Parts: sequence; C-alpha cells; structure tokens
Amino acid sequence: MTCLVIGTGGREHALALALSRDPAVGAVHAAPGNPGIGAFAALHAVDPMDGSDVADLAQRIGADLVVIGPEAPLVGGVADAVRGRGIAVFGPSAAAARLEGSKAFSKEVMAAAGVPTAGSRTCTTPEEAAAALDAFGAPYVVKDDALAAGKGVVVTNDRAEALEHAAACGRVVIEEFLAGPEVSLFAICDGERAHPLQPAQDFKRIFDGGRGPNTGGMGSYSPLPWAPADLAQTVIDTVVQPTLDEMGRRGAPFVGCLYVGLALTVAGPKVIEFNCRFGDPDIQPVLAVLESPLGALLHAAARGRLDEVEQPRFRDAASVTVVLASAGYPEGSSKGDVITGVGAANGVTDVDVIHAGTALRDAPDSEAGAELVTAGGRVLAVRALGYDVADARARAYAAAELISFDGLQRRSDIAAEPLGVVEGAAVLDE
Ligand code: AMP
Ligand code: GLY
Repeated sequence: MTCLVIGTGGREHALALALSRDPAVGAVHAAPGNPGIGAFAALHAVDPMDGSDVADLAQRIGADLVVIGPEAPLVGGVADAVRGRGIAVFGPSAAAARLEGSKAFSKEVMAAAGVPTAGSRTCTTPEEAAAALDAFGAPYVVKDDALAAGKGVVVTNDRAEALEHAAACGRVVIEEFLAGPEVSLFAICDGERAHPLQPAQDFKRIFDGGRGPNTGGMGSYSPLPWAPADLAQTVIDTVVQPTLDEMGRRGAPFVGCLYVGLALTVAGPKVIEFNCRFGDPDIQPVLAVLESPLGALLHAAARGRLDEVEQPRFRDAASVTVVLASAGYPEGSSKGDVITGVGAANGVTDVDVIHAGTALRDAPDSEAGAELVTAGGRVLAVRALGYDVADARARAYAAAELISFDGLQRRSDIAAEPLGVVEGAAVLDE
C-alpha cells in the first residue's frame, strides 16, 4: 500500500512514522512534510490547502490511501477533491468537518444526538452574550464560533474579560463550565461505525503547573492509569455512535478521526469540543503504544469498511511526549535558531524525535551539509516508550536533555501528576 500524508507538523510526522512501520505499507509520501518525515519518506512541495493539487499528486504517485492531518484543508474540502478522483481518503468531507469548523454546528449536532456536553447558547449581540454569562455564572466560558487555531476560547472569572472576548469575536458560543480532568479520545470512524483508540491527556498551557497562556499542547501521555477502564467504550456508546448516526441522517457521514475532547465530571464524561482530526501532541504517545497495524485501520475506515478490521490493540506499555518550543511561543515564535543533539536523542532506545517546526538551512561551512534550525512555535517533540508512565517519562526527559537551541522552552512536569491535569481550572487561580 502506498500512503500520502498531508500536513507539516508533529501529528503528520507521527502518523507517517507509524505507517512506515506497518509491513503492509510499501511507500510513504508526504506533502509538504518536514525534515523529520524527509528522513524516511518522499516529500512533495504541494500546498495542502489546494485540493486539486493534492489530488493530482495522489494520482501521480499511485496513492492507495491519503491521510489529511490538519483541520484547515479538511474544513476547506480537500478530502472531497481527493475522494472525487476515486482515491481512499482518511479525513472528513467539508460538510462533516463542520463539527470542528463551527462550534455552533457541533453544539446543534450534540443536542440533536443527545450527547452529554456543557449547556450552551449561541450569541451574536453584546446583550445576548451578557444574558448568557449571567445565566451560566462564573467561571465563564466564551468560544469563538469559527476556527481560531487554538486561540478562540476564553475561560475566566472576569465578566468584563468574557464580554470583551464575545464582542471581539462577533458570533460566540457561551457555555457552562465543566469541572474535571480533561481527556482526549480519538475515534476512528468509517461513516457508520467507530473504533476507539486508547485515551490520552494533553498539557495545554505553556508553563509548569498549568500556568500561562494556552498553547497547541506542550506534552502528552497515554495510557491514563487513573481513568476508568471502560472510558473509551463509554464514549463510543454515549458520544461517538450517536454523533455518527446524526451526521448520517444529515447526509454528511463522518469518515476520519473524530477527536472528542472530554471533561470527566462528577456526572460522567461530557464533551468539551469536537475536532475533525487527530490532536497534536495527544496522538503521538497513542501511536507509540498502538500494536495493531495503522495502515489497515485507516484504509478500512476510508473505504467505509471498519467491520473488516480488528479493534485497535495496544501494547502493555506507556508513552510520554515532551514538546520543545521556540523562544516567544505561544504569542510568537523564533525562526532560524540552530538545533543540536537530535541525532543523539533519536539514538536513545525507544525514543523518537518528532519534528513539528524545523527546517534545513545550508550551513556556512558547506562541508558540514545542511543544518537543522527552528521554523515555528512548537519545534520538536521527544517521545519515549516505557514500561509504565513513570518509566516513559524518565526516558523522554533524559533524551530531551540532549537537545538544545537558543530560547528552548519545555515544561518539566509533563505526565508527573498521578491523577490527571485540570489545566482549564488552574489558570483561574492566577
Ligand atoms: P478548546 O479550544 O475548545 O479545546 O478549549 C480550550 C480549553 O478551554 C479546553 O482545553 C479547556 O481547558 C477549556 N474549556 C473549553 N470549554 C470548557 C468548558 N465548557 N468548561 C471548562 N473548560 C473549558
Ligand atoms: N492538542 C490539541 C489539539 O490538537 O487541538
């Protein structure tokens, strides 16, 4: 099987790596990819937002399966363009990707499907917003209706700040605050059926202890030893299957990864958000412990035939991923800082250095070849496999110590908490 992965980040590197380790996958291609993926796969300079260019590339290389990583091309209809050429695609149509593209739409689908989630109101005027804030009370949760690259949500005790965010966004969803540890559950969906992956947890804030601004994610781990053993199946039964049925009724069957962001509340798991793709870095440790082949799973889902493959199986092991970010992240990022130690870290047993925002630059001394430099906010992720979470954590940090670049930022408490992080609430204490 020939696979094409679309995107540039750590999620795409981890997916491409897992596919390359599947004996049924003969060749892996990526577009545009990154230097880490380029070490084992062919890279193609194609704009991931251009559906017809992506479809042309898929045809040219004879792809049997196209996996689209990020939300923007999915919401923009790139999966439809590729599927239109008769090629199997893992990733939802534009119509189904609205589950992430519009918070109001996802709330409407959850209500119709009877999915447990925070009570909410969609508001377009300051008066409506003020009334909704007072109805739900503090802490206030205000979400931009549109895709906002992780910056659309404000959780605060300050009513004025909540009102200000609502006014700046225009159309917002205001909802009830959900208290409890957050969990990411990835469901592999074929339009009608779903298989769950093992739950993971993501550390969203930039600083230790859940302090500072939200990021795309500073680290993650899986499994969650403290979570109920039947959590994944509960979420399939109460959230994923009703949502797939509702999307089918609406003529927009969901094929791809339904990423369910949950709060484990005293009243059971409730949905914080849906995303239409794998989460990053949350998916990275999950793929490290996945034992059954990824290619067959994604290919079966893309063809609407999940009934033909086994439920995903996981090793009796754990994985921890620690993100290395550049100076200035998350407000900005620093480009061009020289990175050292990646080879040494990658050489550590059971460690993979995943590239998220790196580039190759011609070195001043041409003898040395190209040098690896920073090219984004989240630069690398160091992922380790271990016997349990503590072992994987120790290995990940030992390997991360080997890597350096100017302004490197990383948290020191990834996967250190035995009972799961509650970062949304932590920020309210500041
Ligand atoms: P999102 O961009 O939807 O993932 O939201 C970003 C973060 O805001 C989440 O990871 C939570 O920590 C927090 N959050 C969002 N919605 C809620 C809610 N209803 N109750 C509590 N925290 C929330
Ligand atoms: N790690 C959060 C996300 O991918 O949205």
